[in-house]
Amino acid sequence: MVSGTSGRVFVTRPIPDVGLDFLRAAGAHVEVWGGAGDAPAHHDLAQWLRGCDVLLSLLTERIDATLLEGAPHLRGIANYAVGHDNIELPTATRLGIPVSNTPDVLTESTADLTWALLLGAARRVVEADRYMRLGNYRLWGPKLLLGEDVSPGCEGATKQLGIIGFGRIGQAVARRAQGFSMRVVAHHPSAPERVERSGLAAAVSLEQLLATSDFVSLHVPLTETTRHLIGAAELGAMRSSAVLVNTSRGAVVDEKALVEALASGDIAAAGLDVYEHEPAMATGLAELPNTVLLPHIGSASRGTRDAMARIAATNAVAMLRGEAAPQCINPEIYDSAAFDARIRRLQPGEPRLTT
Ligand code: DGY
Repeated sequence: MVSGTSGRVFVTRPIPDVGLDFLRAAGAHVEVWGGAGDAPAHHDLAQWLRGCDVLLSLLTERIDATLLEGAPHLRGIANYAVGHDNIELPTATRLGIPVSNTPDVLTESTADLTWALLLGAARRVVEADRYMRLGNYRLWGPKLLLGEDVSPGCEGATKQLGIIGFGRIGQAVARRAQGFSMRVVAHHPSAPERVERSGLAAAVSLEQLLATSDFVSLHVPLTETTRHLIGAAELGAMRSSAVLVNTSRGAVVDEKALVEALASGDIAAAGLDVYEHEPAMATGLAELPNTVLLPHIGSASRGTRDAMARIAATNAVAMLRGEAAPQCINPEIYDSAAFDARIRRLQPGEPRLTT
């Protein structure tokens, strides 16, 4: 256990106690925003950022350039997520602000949930559950709630899983596919050799993957390159029996185009954990029976969320001390004049202007 660290850590919404306890045991003064259902507004964040040493943020808080520029004393941002598209990283880097994330610990839980969505959408589990609850089940029948095979099934036809983005989570999803005797292909343009080297999948182009896969699963971070990676043209290129699964970021898919593709039968079904304008959904999505819709719970196992809290807190304590955060995503700043100047400017815990 660390101790002897002073300074203020502001936490934008409650995280598991294990993280808060770690921060307090390290000597930090910890403030947590309101309740679980209440997110700080931009002006609240602006005020907080003027007054804290380290911000522990959630993926729901957009930390833009204005906020970062208005936080001259900030020593770092520890994001409670592996994704960090909520933080304007180039500005943070330019200003010498370290930013960290929580990789690795959520890989397996997110891969598990990807498979829950894949199986649920393919075999219409949610529709079937609703059918039962509504009292519609009166007589078993050979055509009742027919879905798609995931394993080769009785016909021995191997199914293909196409994985877009072959990082940690994409690979964990691929490993699980072996249990279903699937053929796995993957598209990872920045390092296609990683796909082949894994021995888990064959590297293919995006076009090939979309045209030949029975299941398509998205595992890319949200960047300007991946925004709307899957739009009307890509959905149109998929098989009409295909199932799309997204546990990455909502805006990787053009959600309006997805609603149209699902309604017109361009693709068979979708399993979604994330949404383009979260928590809102595109008009019509909720009414489509061929969807399984979850509220961004990819990493929501007790163990994972505790581990994320521990990692975020560990990074925050390192930032308070002016040390390199273990999961820093812009580590180049540690050699920068901007970081040196920022860290020297004020010792943690000194009085701040908070209004
Ligand atoms: C992440 O960490 O980026 C997930 O979306 C939530 O755990």
